[in-house]
Amino acid sequence: MAFVAFSITHAAVIVPGATWTDTSGTVIQAHGGGFLKVGSTFYWHGEDKAHNSGLFRAVSCYTSSDLTTWTRQNDALTPISGTTISTSNIVERPKVVFNKANSEYVMWFHSDSSNYGSAQVGVATSKTPCGPYTFKSSFRPLGAESRDMGLFQDAAQTTYLLYASDNNQNFKISKLDSNYYNVSSQTSVISASTLESPGVIKRNGVYYLFASHTSGWDPNPNKFFTASSLGGPWSAQADIAPAATRTYFSQNTFDMLINSNFGIYMGDRWRPSLLGSSRYMWFPLSWASGKPQIVQADVWSLNLSAGTYTVASGTTYEAEGGSLGGGATVLSNSAFSSGKAIGWLGNGGTVTINNIQGTGSPQWVALYYANGDSSWRTTTISVNGGSAVTVDQPNTGGGSVVLSVPVKLTLRSGTNSITVGSGGTNYAADLDKIVVYTAA
Ligand SMILES: *[C@@H]1O[C@H](CO)[C@@H](O)[C@H](O)[C@H]1NC(C)=O
Ligand SMILES: *[C@@H]1O[C@H](CO)[C@@H](O)[C@H](O)[C@H]1NC(C)=O
Repeated sequence: MAFVAFSITHAAVIVPGATWTDTSGTVIQAHGGGFLKVGSTFYWHGEDKAHNSGLFRAVSCYTSSDLTTWTRQNDALTPISGTTISTSNIVERPKVVFNKANSEYVMWFHSDSSNYGSAQVGVATSKTPCGPYTFKSSFRPLGAESRDMGLFQDAAQTTYLLYASDNNQNFKISKLDSNYYNVSSQTSVISASTLESPGVIKRNGVYYLFASHTSGWDPNPNKFFTASSLGGPWSAQADIAPAATRTYFSQNTFDMLINSNFGIYMGDRWRPSLLGSSRYMWFPLSWASGKPQIVQADVWSLNLSAGTYTVASGTTYEAEGGSLGGGATVLSNSAFSSGKAIGWLGNGGTVTINNIQGTGSPQWVALYYANGDSSWRTTTISVNGGSAVTVDQPNTGGGSVVLSVPVKLTLRSGTNSITVGSGGTNYAADLDKIVVYTAA
């Protein structure tokens, strides 16, 4: 019975770097986000940057039951003129925890002046997870600077502020008071560590601290540290992804343990020139090797009831297997798959890859490329000679560093040809390969 087959629900997919839309089809604006689970509902609080500015517009609130399909609710926190959370201030990295004793949700965030000079935390409260929250105050915890921050709540409900302090030189962990309105004592300091964008997971009795280093909006290799107590001593830092990828061009914002096998690394791919187009970079975080490592995935899905994740496998088509046009040329470098890529694409140079199998429905395609510039490039991609779509290609950190970007295409059922670079007036990145997924 075809009817039965059609009723099978396919898991929605997570596509790092894609334009992620909510259930109304609007781009999700929840950057620098924090996550909270209440009953079976997940809440995502983040920075609404639809106005493409660093200044405060709103802390948004989204809900989901599967961490993949998100519905926008009301704004959780909005600007108040004449306060430290006006439209000319900075409100970043909102994180919410529930205070059981007071039956109250408490939001902490990085609260700052537009030049990041005041370096404070802000606190707001609400009786419901999405708020609206009532702003209490902004202050320097224990009198010291606080910029990038996160929260960690332990099983006994004790909650800790994780923060970059002392001009981002020293990273600190301090305990909140019983109301979660203030910081009461310092628990740990990792001196001269220059860490920001922190998150903590406790797994099998071990605390894992995840953080980036400080390089402004640019990505860097994010690290993890371990300790048997939040007071430390903390281990030396170690990478969570191959260092050259600069955490697949992302910065940590939150780390969520799903079960002892895996968690989720939730990161931001910041785009400072167009902040509202910054993308979410979520990957499985696996302990299969004994230490937490990002599992690189173009397309993946979660099954929370089974406690599993699945990385989609696609079909690879090497760029050098295509036919070249204009000035396009074969490049050799061991960093590329099969040792070859196509360079000098765009600005007249094209590559057309034939015999690509399609499903007849929209499907994800990942472009693997290298862009050694210090700025983003763009390329065009067209299917069967149709109109070209433009794909952004963030700088990869070197001409021998390959990253991937997703694009959703509609291929015919059967064979297709895909052309990269046609009509572009600028040079595109070097193309290593494309991987075609059946998922949409
Ligand atoms: C999730 O896993 C459960 C248990 O293995 C299975 O019954 C269910 O079909 C899975 N859901 C999806 C969407 O794959
Ligand atoms: C936080 O506690 C300190 C004392 O440790 C106090 O000086 C400060 O006023 C308190 N701040 C707030 C916002 O309650």
